[in-house]
Amino acid sequence: MFPHNRPRRLRRTPALRRLLAETTLSPDDLVAPLFVAEGRTEKQAISSLPGQYQHTVASLVEEVGALQRVGVGGVILFGVPEAKDEWGSGAYDPNGIAQVALRALRDEFGDDIVLAADLCLDEYTTHGHCGIVRSDGTVDNDRTIELYARTAVVQADAGASIVAPSGMMDGQVGAIRQELDNAGFLDTIILAYSAKYASGLYGPFREAVGVEIADGGDRRSYQQDYRNARESLLEARADLEQGADILMVKPAMTYLDILSAFREEFDVPLCAYHVSGEYAMVKAAGANGWLDADAVALEQLMAIRRAGADFILTYFAREIAEGLQG
Ligand code: PBG
Repeated sequence: MFPHNRPRRLRRTPALRRLLAETTLSPDDLVAPLFVAEGRTEKQAISSLPGQYQHTVASLVEEVGALQRVGVGGVILFGVPEAKDEWGSGAYDPNGIAQVALRALRDEFGDDIVLAADLCLDEYTTHGHCGIVRSDGTVDNDRTIELYARTAVVQADAGASIVAPSGMMDGQVGAIRQELDNAGFLDTIILAYSAKYASGLYGPFREAVGVEIADGGDRRSYQQDYRNARESLLEARADLEQGADILMVKPAMTYLDILSAFREEFDVPLCAYHVSGEYAMVKAAGANGWLDADAVALEQLMAIRRAGADFILTYFAREIAEGLQG
């Protein structure tokens, strides 16, 4: 061994390790996904996501207050409607649950915490697909993006600073940008779910929002194939050309290669979605005493930052922010 080659001297004390850490994680970098259900009088725990709830508007406002107090950067809202239809009209109804909730949050918090809205139809459709389904069972891209554009405008009008299209339809970002601009919402940010893979890790989320895809179907004709990396770059370039402001990779842990490729390639803000299944796995193993859930959560979020995310959507937002505050 060469006597001068002793990397361990840099790891000797906690103070040295703090000084030399390349990657940081702060509550500012976290966005909490939150669910709000229509027609509920009390919040209801989601069994597949311990610690997460289907909120009432009132309990949502309370939760966002708590998140803001521990410095969490933002929230992203998902609506759970009382009634669904084939066209997902609850998504673009100005009085749909997400819009009602956004207005309440906007009134309470103004611009003190960043309000984002997931923009998709699946929570609102009877068949559970992210768009309009034709009689042959295929999803109609172009009719769907018209509805996304309408949804964006009602979300912006209700108080969303960020709209986040998650349906993986072609041309969705351009259609949304155009409609927002026409309606005068020039400052509304588009956070594009650019690389979104057809993943088994969304399982707990679908319980959280009560979505079941009809006839044992799946989303593989619009979400990406996890055997492919290169098409993520094409998707991201298309989103940027159409006016995306921020790019997302989703899920996170199994797609850190994609995130790191985005970081190399693009100079816009990047985020990753640490999804429901990623949260549920850590929580379940922790509850069984198989690993230290808090430590693993921090390790995973730090790895996502190291791979290039400026911020992270995570169900751990509140816990981690509380922990970081000491
Ligand atoms: C679609 C959407 C999904 C998630 C976020 N937006 C589900 C899907 O694509 O099936 C999943 C988020 C998670 O698993 O935490 N509206």
